[in-house]
Amino acid sequence: MEEKKIKLHLGCQEKYLPGYINIDLPPSEHTAQEVRADLYADVRDLDYETNTVDEIRSHHLLEHFSRQEALLLIARWHRWLKIGGLLVVETPDFEESAKKFVKASLDDQFVLGRHIFGSHEASWAYHKDFWSETKYRYVLSKIGFDDFKFEKFSNNLESKIPLAKSIGLSKAEGALKNLSKFGFNFLPNIVCYAKKSRGESDYPDIIKKILEKSMVGSEVKILEAWLSDIKDKKI
Ligand SMILES: C[S@@+](CC[C@H](N)C(=O)[O-])C[C@H]1O[C@@H](n2cnc3c(N)ncnc32)[C@H](O)[C@@H]1O
Repeated sequence: MEEKKIKLHLGCQEKYLPGYINIDLPPSEHTAQEVRADLYADVRDLDYETNTVDEIRSHHLLEHFSRQEALLLIARWHRWLKIGGLLVVETPDFEESAKKFVKASLDDQFVLGRHIFGSHEASWAYHKDFWSETKYRYVLSKIGFDDFKFEKFSNNLESKIPLAKSIGLSKAEGALKNLSKFGFNFLPNIVCYAKKSRGESDYPDIIKKILEKSMVGSEVKILEAWLSDIKDKKI
């Protein structure tokens, strides 16, 4: 008999995916959305055996964690995945959002600012770090992923209707703004697909080296605080 695949969908909210273990915080943590999950839990408290998970998927979750927590989670997800296991992570595309922001009207900057910094209607609804193609490639390859693929959407018409991108329809962003009451927006998102390419490595050392890149000058005490925040947490 074929072994049942373990596929995790973290931070699912109301997007329940059949075939996945859908996991999110309980309804009491949500102020404005419905949530439907198989398991109500903080994803930071999950633990799976090493090399047992086939796929881990999260859409608009990773940016809600501090830089040290996010690195710890990515390392943990790497450990759980089987070799060749798939990681799929979608977040706002910080680089494209920043490019748009610079040229945007003040009205659009308010909306882009919310996309970059979060919606702030619940204690989890704050974005704490940036994610972009170059950062995904750098961080994930250090932790032990390869075989990268990216999908970038400059608005959600492209993600809802893939044909819109290929026929250039989605470039008509002025028109999209008029469709905002139907749920269309002009906000850039990125989906990163990567596979676990090697076994466990010295995760704490890799995390430390990545965190050092965010230091301004010789902020040794700040680095120590970042590391102390995650030091007792199992990867
Ligand atoms: C912006 S919503 C994204 C929902 C859905 N994945 C989507 O793409 O539409 C972020 C979701 O992550 C969940 N979330 C945030 N922090 C979490 C945590 N520590 N543990 C579990 N879920 C969390 C929130 O409850 C929320 O449902």
